[in-house]
Amino acid sequence: MLFLRSHRLIPAEDVKPIPTETVEEEIQKAMRAKLTISQDILNGLVTRDFELIQQAAGELKKVSLNAPEHIEGDETDNELYKHFRLEFLRINTLMEDMAKDENVEGAAFAYQSLTANCLACHSYLHANDDDGPIQLRRE
Ligand code: HEC
Repeated sequence: MLFLRSHRLIPAEDVKPIPTETVEEEIQKAMRAKLTISQDILNGLVTRDFELIQQAAGELKKVSLNAPEHIEGDETDNELYKHFRLEFLRINTLMEDMAKDENVEGAAFAYQSLTANCLACHSYLHANDDDGPIQLRRE
């Protein structure tokens, strides 16, 4: 949706930090996109559609790079979380290369690494809770 605004400068003291709620919603949107796009990769693997695999891996990288880096002060705000994010990018680059080479076994290996990476980051984030399916926390 597009909101039209008048083009005047906003005085610096009126610029407020983005509320955490918005950041959380952005992460949630990004994660749901990751789920859908990773299903495209599975689709590409089982149909040997290398173009689809390559596109989807590229999309996953974009989604990850555009998602907020962290929520300040929680479990996403440290080196380990950063590690999982970088690993996500590395795996998707590998996926793109394997798809370019039309190497279905290599791409399937990258897909398994991707799934392991999703789970590893989630396990790290939720190592100590047993409150059901993973969802964005609400205060
Ligand atoms: C770098 C860490 C990280 C990686 C890697 C990661 N996630 Fe997430 N995921 C999160 C965070 C943070 C949340 C927000 C909820 C929470 O607190 O765990 C989340 C939540 C989700 C949710 C629930 C969203 C909702 O509706 O609230 C889904 C679905 C999801 N991730 C899918 C994936 C998939 C699929 C992958 C791999 C392709 C993936 N995630 C990889 C950090 C990660």
